[in-house]
Amino acid sequence: MSEISRRKWLQSSLLASSALLMSGPASAAIELSKKNVARFNDELIKLHYNENPWGPSAKAREAVIKALDISNRYPDDLVESLKKEIAQTNQIDPRQIFVSAGSMEILSLLGQHVGLMKGEILTAWPTFPTIVQAGEIAGATTKKVWVDSNERIDLNKLKAGITDKTSLIFLCNPNNPTSTEVDTKDLRAFCRAVPSNVLICVDEAYIEFSNNGLEGSMMSLVNELPNLIIVRTFSKTYGLAGLRIGYAISSQGNIEQLQMRHPGREIAAGVAPLAAALATMKDPAFIKHCVSKNNEGKEIVYNAYKKWGVSHAKSSTSFIYTRHEHFDKDVVPKMKKDGILITKWPDMKDHIRISIGKPSEMEAFVKTIEKYLV
Ligand SMILES: Cc1ncc(COP(=O)(O)O)c(C=O)c1O
Repeated sequence: MSEISRRKWLQSSLLASSALLMSGPASAAIELSKKNVARFNDELIKLHYNENPWGPSAKAREAVIKALDISNRYPDDLVESLKKEIAQTNQIDPRQIFVSAGSMEILSLLGQHVGLMKGEILTAWPTFPTIVQAGEIAGATTKKVWVDSNERIDLNKLKAGITDKTSLIFLCNPNNPTSTEVDTKDLRAFCRAVPSNVLICVDEAYIEFSNNGLEGSMMSLVNELPNLIIVRTFSKTYGLAGLRIGYAISSQGNIEQLQMRHPGREIAAGVAPLAAALATMKDPAFIKHCVSKNNEGKEIVYNAYKKWGVSHAKSSTSFIYTRHEHFDKDVVPKMKKDGILITKWPDMKDHIRISIGKPSEMEAFVKTIEKYLV
């Protein structure tokens, strides 16, 4: 191949790959930035991203301001301090923790890892899709096991779906978007039954809202099962979604792999999110307040649904998975026009998802959605 034709070939394949990207994640990113126009409009009531309307806490705000003084430094010391705090809270070794700029980074890394091995992700469905999306882009196949008629993850069907091809099992508990959780004992037995060469990722983004409390966490299995990876975030109960901070807990071997593969080498979370996360961890009263206010918000919606005969799943999270059939088929765009953002992903099929905001926002939600009852 001559130098010129080699250059042409390179140019055309780069063009082709950028076209490929634009049809996938890049075009999605443009869509997202369009959506951001709506996100920063404070006139809107945002019940679409499961954000915590009470955050950040006063202590987190104070910590962020203080952190500005050390923002000329890399955040290693704070990474270590946060790991120590998480380790102490969960009685594990700090070397079993990986800190990232939001838990989506960890889910993406795990998905990419399976994709690069040309492996298979076995997952309950519908669920939080990041790991599946990242996996498929990188070459993974996915086996989806639909939730049961009570919108709960079907552990028996999931277990039956394990084959020699399975590389990783993804379980979000409590699950987004269905809002339900599985029985703790059943989940523990399931994790123990998974072959040790298969990774299990349990996403506990909403664990503090669980009706089982932290007892529902699989944290107690981490030292027993080296193939188990627990993913947590500070975006939900901790009220720090915009600061971007999350973490994974697993065996030291898995954590070292995450550290090596992470583009930011574990210093992607800056000093401000790290300081805010530390301050909020030391403020259990704030977490208690958020959980209690979340329950208050849920009651407002439950009472209205009861009066109207609207069916929904029993929520163990900060959102309510509501049957769509009770409302106008265009209820999501119509509510948006009224200034209230709610969610429907294509795979929610018969449901819409309502995040819990402040009680005043839930009153406004009830008053507005009543117009669209059918
Ligand atoms: C189940 C679940 N996991 C992970 C995330 C992402 O969290 P983060 O903000 O830490 O990236 C979300 C966000 O909605 C979620 O619902």
